[in-house]
Amino acid sequence: MKPLRSLLAAAIGVLVLVPLGAAPANAGGSFRPGAAGVGDPYFPGYGNGGYDVKHYDLDVHYQPSTDVLTGRAVIHARATQNLSSFNLDFVGLTIDKLSVNGHKASYSRSGQELTVTRKIRKGSRFRVEVRYHGVPETIQIPFPGIVLEAGFIHTDDGALVAGQPEVAATWFPVNDHPQDKASYSFAVTVPAGLEAIANGVPRGSKTKDGWTTWKWEQRTPMISYLATATIGEFRISTTKHHGKPTIIAIDPDLPPSLADDAVGRTNEITDFLAGFFGPYPFEANGAIVDDYDNLFFALENQTRSIYSKYFFEEGTTTGETYVVAHELAHQWFGDSVAVEQWDDIWLNEGFATYAEWLWSDKLGEGTPQEIFDFLYAQPLSAPYWAPPPGDPGPVDLFDDSVYVRGAMTLQALRVTVGDADFWKIVRQWYAKNRNGHGSTAEFVRLAERVSGEQLDDLFQAWLFTDTKPPHPGAATATLAASTADKPAVLKSWDRRPHLRR
Ligand code: TRP
Ligand code: ZN
Repeated sequence: MKPLRSLLAAAIGVLVLVPLGAAPANAGGSFRPGAAGVGDPYFPGYGNGGYDVKHYDLDVHYQPSTDVLTGRAVIHARATQNLSSFNLDFVGLTIDKLSVNGHKASYSRSGQELTVTRKIRKGSRFRVEVRYHGVPETIQIPFPGIVLEAGFIHTDDGALVAGQPEVAATWFPVNDHPQDKASYSFAVTVPAGLEAIANGVPRGSKTKDGWTTWKWEQRTPMISYLATATIGEFRISTTKHHGKPTIIAIDPDLPPSLADDAVGRTNEITDFLAGFFGPYPFEANGAIVDDYDNLFFALENQTRSIYSKYFFEEGTTTGETYVVAHELAHQWFGDSVAVEQWDDIWLNEGFATYAEWLWSDKLGEGTPQEIFDFLYAQPLSAPYWAPPPGDPGPVDLFDDSVYVRGAMTLQALRVTVGDADFWKIVRQWYAKNRNGHGSTAEFVRLAERVSGEQLDDLFQAWLFTDTKPPHPGAATATLAASTADKPAVLKSWDRRPHLRR
């Protein structure tokens, strides 16, 4: 406790400094608008500053025959500065009512920015309630030869909600950047007879007057782009795995022999990856496979990866499990350990691709070193040497280089520091950043600390140049590989040039 004298002196000082008529709240620092973005160099408008969301309570009602979504979002947040106003990201939908802490608040909208005018003191918790409705806008990502539909996708019998980097704002008001993870509860109401599948653990369903409400809960913090509320007819199978539910939902319009075998190995592949990375991060697991013709990707939605049907082929099994290993690896790297900024994307895609190489080894279809050597032997004109995976730029965020050269970076690290240190680095990376974030600079620092080696040159060459880096191992390996057969995992990528993962 401070002596009374100094408290009095401080109070008098404040009285002298504060001009007549100013609100006493200003004593704790001036109230300013929260930033309209978190400052991501690739996407300056994504997310917002000045507060931290703790929990989203989403109650949405969807009518597939009109595509209209009616929603009520309650956002529980804490101010990290004295706010005079703050922003949410929210695209397209009509706002019917907005309140802060139960009081009607004024707001304005411009592009994706929803600005709410409200004085909130630093450190205090507040609750924003938004009631809204409309037809969620599907994001169209142009690619050569195809347009990738992402975000809130309207399907023949419902909706498919998946995409990145920024899609959540098309269906709920959100602080839409990986930096602000939060827990979620979902209540999704759909015409009776349809299923609604979100993230985490199921909390039951209720049918009344021809509508069914499905409840889900994701307690472990989640990035907004990983949230889903996928609606339609699904065959659902639930297994208990180490006491946690694994929920696999497959569209009944798909032949039962198509995706069931591969996604049915979710538990087995999860255990396989946990053996390398550490314990599986979340309270549930699973998969969703929809019949929708215009879904051309798979995505690592937290606890519930979503797969395009085109990843699977009838009559084959092991080749179709590579994408499952990829999406499951993202549960550790991407979901639990999130990017700090989007230029850290190789930490997601490089690890997930490397997991496919580990799975390849397990299947007896090529070791990571054999796959690396095959790739290394390919000319600079191969599609994965540029741009530099450590700084691909916003347009090439998901270029092959981010995936392939990203995974090659990990193998180059493994060869340089040796197996023991490599696995120590990987396990510590997860253990330290679990439920949090990690950046490239932090990964390099950890690798140097664990190995005791100076690795700047290695990471500089592999992540930040657009030429072929020096081979980290014996030159003879390169010669042998140039005549080797293409590893099966790379053939599985070739079979689906139109697919993103
Ligand atoms: N990152 C996703 C995966 O690895 C795939 C992906 C890349 C994607 N770009 C996308 C998904 C755009 C949706 C939209 O599984
Ligand atoms: Zn991926």
